[in-house]
Amino acid sequence: MIFAIARKIHNRGAVQVTISTTSSMMVLMTSRPQCLPTAPIDFELLPRSAEVDLAGRLRVGGVDVLDAAQEFGTPLFLYDEDELRASFREAVAVFGEGVAYATKAFLTPAVARIAAQEGMSFDVSTAGEYACCRRVGVPASRLVLHGNNKQPEELRLAVEEGPQWIVVDNFDELERLTAITEELQREVNILVRANPGIEVHTHRYIATGNRDSKFGFPAWNEDANRAIEQVKKAPFLKFLGVHMHIGSFVLALDTFIKALEAAAPLFDHHHPEIFVVGGGLGMRYLNGDECPTFREWGEAITGWGRRRFPGSRILAEPGRTMVARAGITLYTVGVVQRKGGRVFVAVDGGMSDNPRPVLYGSGYEVFSASAPLALRDLTIRLVGRHCESGDTLLEEGHLPAGITVGDIVCTPVTGAYGYSMASNYNLVPRAAVVFVSGGKARITTRRETLEDLFAREVDGE
Ligand code: LLP
Repeated sequence: MIFAIARKIHNRGAVQVTISTTSSMMVLMTSRPQCLPTAPIDFELLPRSAEVDLAGRLRVGGVDVLDAAQEFGTPLFLYDEDELRASFREAVAVFGEGVAYATKAFLTPAVARIAAQEGMSFDVSTAGEYACCRRVGVPASRLVLHGNNKQPEELRLAVEEGPQWIVVDNFDELERLTAITEELQREVNILVRANPGIEVHTHRYIATGNRDSKFGFPAWNEDANRAIEQVKKAPFLKFLGVHMHIGSFVLALDTFIKALEAAAPLFDHHHPEIFVVGGGLGMRYLNGDECPTFREWGEAITGWGRRRFPGSRILAEPGRTMVARAGITLYTVGVVQRKGGRVFVAVDGGMSDNPRPVLYGSGYEVFSASAPLALRDLTIRLVGRHCESGDTLLEEGHLPAGITVGDIVCTPVTGAYGYSMASNYNLVPRAAVVFVSGGKARITTRRETLEDLFAREVDGE
């Protein structure tokens, strides 16, 4: 009996396909997937454990993804647990204790538990994110409270429990927080969020370090400085440092350094212990994309910190880079329709599980989960099932020409800001989340049911 596994190993740009059988092993070298849109999916966009067996079946974390789609249904968010763990471990290795996972990227109790086990702190910006972390036993002292309009009850709870720190965003909040700490007679650690006011190249909805942003105290006038002075004077606010977050999906390392330089005079003036650079590093989403690695980003920032402020600590709050590559989404094709010179492939999800294409024009790849090594020689538009033309996952994508109704297709790099931004548009129940590791799949968030959709209705009859 022949047992064979083909594993794709990426080795400095080359793709090596190893075919092993019980009796022999051969190694086929192929060239690196080209940037041609019809090339097979680049496995560097998939979790590192992804491999393909000789029957053409894709495995992630040792789990056959077609079997997972069958067992748990689609649309399905499938995460490689080991990849998540590796990202969190790397963040702690690069920045040290206190580095916070930006939970807005993807937060369920299961991922919170894993991040906590790997030593992360957590950036939370609502009572919901706060509660999710506390629920799985994360101590308040590892929570960083964020937001440009933190609610009084959120501030109060944080002050009562003693977070790692609260990042103060504006003068109204500063006043509110001063009053709450005085009333409760409790001291709380504070970072002041400075807005460096620089050009940030990303989608304008997710740029935050520019002058037109709602976030933070301007560093280009006296506001940030005044805020720090005010914190220092408040009897129960303990000034620990300066924070900034310039935006998300930023690809140029020098933009981060420029932002740090812009806020550095505050640091020179007040000599705090901590400088937090936020998150914001981009990712590879498409075959052929180039992007600095997390380590390169971290080393550029911490290196700058060591040179410029020896003795202080530089920390970060990565979100996307922790979870994006670990997650893939599986869909079932329901319609393949040719019209007007275009092929529309409709899947059983769409803007309700991934609103990023419609919000930011974000690009993705798609491939057939049953033919992951195949050339994708058919130009298609990947659309969802929602009642508007904007419900498009890929304006122009490529799939093997044989794609047909019932096939399972996969969009990789969907681990960040997909599930966390999912909605019930058209009263579609939200998708399930499955974690895979060591050949086992475990459901961590079950699929929503129709009953769930009406669970909050008071007048349901
Ligand atoms: N720190 C703060 C204060 C943030 O607001 C964010 C993200 C992060 C850290 C993490 O940034 P990351 O490493 O994930 O880029 N929904 C958008 C992204 C919004 C980012 C919001 N803040 C998207 O899907 O691209």
